[in-house]
Amino acid sequence: GETLKDVAARKGMRFGTAISAGRNQFGDAAYRALVERECNLIVLENEMKWQALEPAPGRPNFGPADDVIAWAKDKGIAVRGHNLFWQTEKWVPAWVAKQNFGPQPAKAVEQLMRTHVSTVCGHFGNSIRSWDVVNEAVDPADGKLRQNALTRPLGAAEQIDLAFRLAKEYAPQAQLVYNDYMRGDAGSAKHRAGVLALLADLKKRGTPVNALGLQSHIGSWDETDKGRSDLVEWRKFLDEVSGMGYDLLITELDVNDRRLPADIAKRDAGVAAATRDYLDVTLAYPRLRDILVWGLADNVSWLQTWDEAPRKDKLPMRPTPFDAQLKAKPMKQAIIDAIKAA
Ligand code: G3I
Repeated sequence: GETLKDVAARKGMRFGTAISAGRNQFGDAAYRALVERECNLIVLENEMKWQALEPAPGRPNFGPADDVIAWAKDKGIAVRGHNLFWQTEKWVPAWVAKQNFGPQPAKAVEQLMRTHVSTVCGHFGNSIRSWDVVNEAVDPADGKLRQNALTRPLGAAEQIDLAFRLAKEYAPQAQLVYNDYMRGDAGSAKHRAGVLALLADLKKRGTPVNALGLQSHIGSWDETDKGRSDLVEWRKFLDEVSGMGYDLLITELDVNDRRLPADIAKRDAGVAAATRDYLDVTLAYPRLRDILVWGLADNVSWLQTWDEAPRKDKLPMRPTPFDAQLKAKPMKQAIIDAIKAA
């Protein structure tokens, strides 16, 4: 059958997935072969996060990411970087959150951020041509900027601005991305409004941001999800973002199938339909060239272990284009059809 990367390439697009260095992903020859066959782009699922790279100060562990990057280079697969700063307080490394920044906290935070960005971007250099510089800065509950150990001394907007300026300085060749979820077929209007306000503010400041990363964890997340009708709101949102001059990319596509029937054929059809509806709206923007899923096969999906919103019947989730036996599911065909139709 056709591969996702070939179908994408014929449209001048790229297709990719998140991959972790773990035993069931990069460590599994069959999974690795599937990624090689279907993808010309990858992103490390966890291994470039600050907490993972530098669990303790000053001793960065680049090994797992380097192994995956070396393989990708050999196979001609491009690699995205995820992420330099994750704004959610609980994902800021504990040693950073606990730090006493002394009598001049703003200066100390600036220095810490500079050290982090120069170390990480300096290490990976031109093997990373697209960086999620800031991840999830907007609180979906109220649309305001999240606060954490780095934002408090500087101001949240100022800290985000600085993050991008540092990324520009130390990764001058890279596409610089603000990445957030703002789920397409549901999610919070306040979240989207907050992201628009942030993007407008960054534009006013002249902050070097190239693109908005649309995480795209779509599907049914809670009982208020209204499904496809909200794609009207989604289109308005994308119109505004591209109107501001930002490029777009889909960074983490998967479909939460917790409210679809247990019957596998029905469930897979529901996942495929949600994918197609979402991509038909989202791929209409010519500024969007890259599509990445957050895991290529169901068994590796983060949703299998995400216990905040499990299926009531506790069956394994089926959120990705391939099943646990690495066989293509209807979601794969939905992506192919949507790319061809775009
Ligand atoms: O590696 C350790 C292992 O040593 C330890 O024994 C085990 C015990 O909990 O934890 C392992 O780390 C886990 C890691 O995934 C690797 O499996 C962390 O607990 C777990 O929190 C972490 O979850 C990741 C999560 O981000 C938080 O970093 C998920 O795999 C990853 O899919 C998810 O990805 C995020 C994106 O970065 C941002 N957008 C949303 C997306 C989904 O939540």
